[in-house]
Amino acid sequence: MAYFYNEPSRTFSEYLLVPNLSTKECMPGNVELKTPLVKYRVGEKPSLQLNIPVASAIMQSVSDNNMAIALAKCGGVSFVYGSQSIENQAEMVRKVKKYKAGFVVSDSNLRPDNTLRDVVDIKERTGHSTIAVTEDGTPTGRLVGIVTSRDYRLSRASLDQKINEFMTPFSQLIYGQEGITLKEANDMIWEHKLNCLPIIDDQQKLVYLVFRKDYDSHKENPNELLDGSKRLIVGAGINTRDYKERVTALVDAGVDLVCIDSSDGYSEWQSDTIKWIKENFQGEVKVGAGNVVDREGFRYLVAAGADFIKVGIGGGSICITREQKGIGRGQASSVIEVSAARDEYLKETGIYIPICSDGGIVHDYHIVLALAMGADFVMLGRYFARFDESPTRKIKVGGNFVKEYWGEGSNRARNWQRYDMGGDSKLGFEEGVDSYVPYAGKLKDNLDTTIHKIKSTMCNCGALSVYELQQKARLTLVSATSIKEGGAHDVILKDKELSSS
Ligand code: IMP
Repeated sequence: MAYFYNEPSRTFSEYLLVPNLSTKECMPGNVELKTPLVKYRVGEKPSLQLNIPVASAIMQSVSDNNMAIALAKCGGVSFVYGSQSIENQAEMVRKVKKYKAGFVVSDSNLRPDNTLRDVVDIKERTGHSTIAVTEDGTPTGRLVGIVTSRDYRLSRASLDQKINEFMTPFSQLIYGQEGITLKEANDMIWEHKLNCLPIIDDQQKLVYLVFRKDYDSHKENPNELLDGSKRLIVGAGINTRDYKERVTALVDAGVDLVCIDSSDGYSEWQSDTIKWIKENFQGEVKVGAGNVVDREGFRYLVAAGADFIKVGIGGGSICITREQKGIGRGQASSVIEVSAARDEYLKETGIYIPICSDGGIVHDYHIVLALAMGADFVMLGRYFARFDESPTRKIKVGGNFVKEYWGEGSNRARNWQRYDMGGDSKLGFEEGVDSYVPYAGKLKDNLDTTIHKIKSTMCNCGALSVYELQQKARLTLVSATSIKEGGAHDVILKDKELSSS
């Protein structure tokens, strides 16, 4: 006979945290959000930790190199999406590993024979007014000049005029040589009253640009997530098909950890993939696996050697897996059961396996709930898709700015490997939708607020670390009536009244 769970499967919004004693030490400034990212033996230090318990989803519409840089600067980690060619994905990883605070790989480039019209186009598209002119128009081509809006305003050029007629040519440029420190670059910027200093190699090829405004960026980001060589830490999604070539290329590009991206991770394909990575790249790259929603799935992937386990099926905001296949489990029930399995495994072996709660975070407090239920960090898609740094278009719909956000199982992403059960190589039906999310501005501004909320909620729970929260939190189920009580009720909201009058 089939197995029936006694309890209904539950989601985050069905729980609330009951406060504990807040001692005088319980102030947001004293809360430490460091959390393990990969497995470790108790008494030792995990080889990778996060400075904030947040990862961005393995999705085309969320995690590219720009997102990875922005999030690692704030202390979290991105997993660069795997539903693209191996070369492109490795290139994105390489860009993150090469990133140095203050040193920017130029992303607005033209050739000397392009016209002012091209300059105006690029400015509209990227918002950047400093354009590097390279021989072949690539970000790392031989530098022949720089164009700023000052150059063409002063020359009163017509739109058809070629760039080499009004750019500041290389012979008149102040530049730095590769290897220069940020301090030295900045001294040159101040000394010569520049806005931008190009950095070139010994063949005059462009390597970076340093902008005056970026100088203080590392001071603004005390949580930056860095490896032993002070490079930003980055993850990447992989699948159970081309993993041998993909992982090899990603390791070569410097990736710190990979994660098998699948809607259902309790499979022999995942076990084979993990084992192959451990046999071939032990010590070079860590591997997360999932997604699972119960003890059995957790034990299976841990036995194969996984370094962390991702939890959640069917809870993502763009996910229609439950409607299409009737597969899944409420996110809260999944995290609670897998965390208990993790604790059981810890008791047996002395080895701690971090757990990532993936999908279904709607409110900031859901993050605290996930941590309180035993997750070590959370993975978010919708949340990050709303920011400037996500790779999708920002457009105006019905008078409001929105960003595009689509699921990996939608026809748009065509990530069949994520849903593949070893059969033919195409999406037979969709498991995700194509959607919009409200545009929310810069990642850092939003994340700072979210982190502050997490910390102050933890203070209410009397917890100064993620570990303490997991030990001390008291959670209660809520009734349908008390959910209604949780929002503003029995008052007339002022902005509603104004908008309807
Ligand atoms: P969100 O934070 O609620 O938007 O959920 C993001 C998570 O949804 C991702 O990390 C994936 O685990 C999952 N996901 C991504 N694309 C799809 C899809 O097309 N169908 C189902 N789940 C998806």
